[in-house]
Amino acid sequence: MNILVTGGAGYIGSHCCKALYQKGFHPVTIDNLVYGHKSFVRWGEFFQGDVGNPADLKKCFSRHKIDAVMHFAAYAYVGESVQDPLKYYENNLRNTVELLHAVVENDINYFVFSSTCATYGNPEKTPIDERHPLNPINPYGRTKRMIEEILEDYGAAYGLNYTSLRYFNAAGADPDSEIGEDHNPETHLIPLVLDVAAAKRKSIKVFGTDYATPDGTCIRDYIHVTDLAEAHILALQRLMDGADSSVYNLGNGRGFSVLEVIERAREIAAREITFENTDRRPGDPPVLIASNEKAIAELGWNPVYADLNDIIGTAWRWHQKL
Ligand SMILES: NC(=O)c1ccc[n+]([C@@H]2O[C@H](COP(=O)([O-])OP(=O)(O)OC[C@H]3O[C@@H](n4cnc5c(N)ncnc54)[C@H](O)[C@@H]3O)[C@@H](O)[C@H]2O)c1
Repeated sequence: MNILVTGGAGYIGSHCCKALYQKGFHPVTIDNLVYGHKSFVRWGEFFQGDVGNPADLKKCFSRHKIDAVMHFAAYAYVGESVQDPLKYYENNLRNTVELLHAVVENDINYFVFSSTCATYGNPEKTPIDERHPLNPINPYGRTKRMIEEILEDYGAAYGLNYTSLRYFNAAGADPDSEIGEDHNPETHLIPLVLDVAAAKRKSIKVFGTDYATPDGTCIRDYIHVTDLAEAHILALQRLMDGADSSVYNLGNGRGFSVLEVIERAREIAAREITFENTDRRPGDPPVLIASNEKAIAELGWNPVYADLNDIIGTAWRWHQKL
C-alpha cells in the first residue's frame, strides 16, 4: 500500500516513513527540501517537489497509485509566524488546500494531518483534552486549526476520512540513531541543550524563572518521535478499518520543566550545560500537558519511550553524529 508522506525528509515525517516501511507499507515522500534532508529519506521513494505546486502533485500522483496521505509538510516556527504570517498562510494553509484538491481529484480516502497543541492556545486547564476550547494565539496555530476545520468540511462534502493528530513537543531520535532532529534554525529545547553539551553553542537561555511551577520554569510535555510515528500508523489503520474521522492529542501525559530537562541532559551527556536566566517570552503558557487518554483508548496507542531518559538519551546518541 502506497502512502504519500509530505515532508517525509523532515524530522517527524522521516521517522514515520521508517515506521511505515517496518509495518509493510510503501512510503512515497514528497518534500521540497526547504528544511528537510535528502539523507533522511531512507525508506521508500523520494519525489522532490512542493505540495503547493499542482504540476509537482500531478507528476507524483501519476507515478504512484497513492492509497493514503500523511501530511507533515509545513512551517513550524511560532515566532516567525507572528513576524511573517503571510508565509504561514501561504504554506500551511494555501498549499495544504492545493494538496487536498489533488487528494479529492485522485479519490484518496484517507488523510492523516500533523496538527499541534498550539490549536488550544493558552490552556484553561491542564491536562488538556481534545474537548478543550480551541483558541490559537498565533498564526501558526491558526493555520493548523483552519486546516482541521477544512478537513471537517471535506469529510462532510467529499467523504474524506481524516485524523488530526495534535502533537505536543516532539522530541528524541530514532533508537537506532539512523535519523533524528536536525532543524536549522533550531528552536526546540532539547537539541539546543544538547548543542551546549556538545560545545556547539556556549549557553542557552531559560525564558522566565518566576512561573507558578515548582522550580519557576515552564513545564512542557515531550513525546518521543518514534511513539509519534507509531500513533500515525495506528491512526491510519483505524481509518482503513472504517472508523470515523477524529482528532487525538499525542503527548506523554507528563510534564518536565526547563530546569529538569537541563539537569537530565547534564547527567546523560556527563557534560556541564551553561544556561542564562532571562525574562519570560510573551505567549508562553506556564504549563502545557496533554491528556493522551483518548489516543490510548481508541487507537490502542502505547507510548514506550515515555521516560525523559529515553527521550534525551536517544537524542544525545543522534546528536553526537551531527
Ligand atoms: N516538531 C514538533 O514538536 C511539532 C509539534 C507539533 C506539530 N508539528 C508539526 O509536525 C509537522 C512536522 O514537523 P517537523 O518538526 O518534522 O518539521 P520539519 O521542518 O523537520 O519537517 C517539515 C518538512 O516539510 C518540508 N516542507 C515544508 N513545506 C513544504 C512544501 N510546501 N512542499 C514540500 N515540502 C515542504 C520541509 O522541507 C521539511 O522537510 C509540521 O506540520 C509541524 O507543524 C511539529
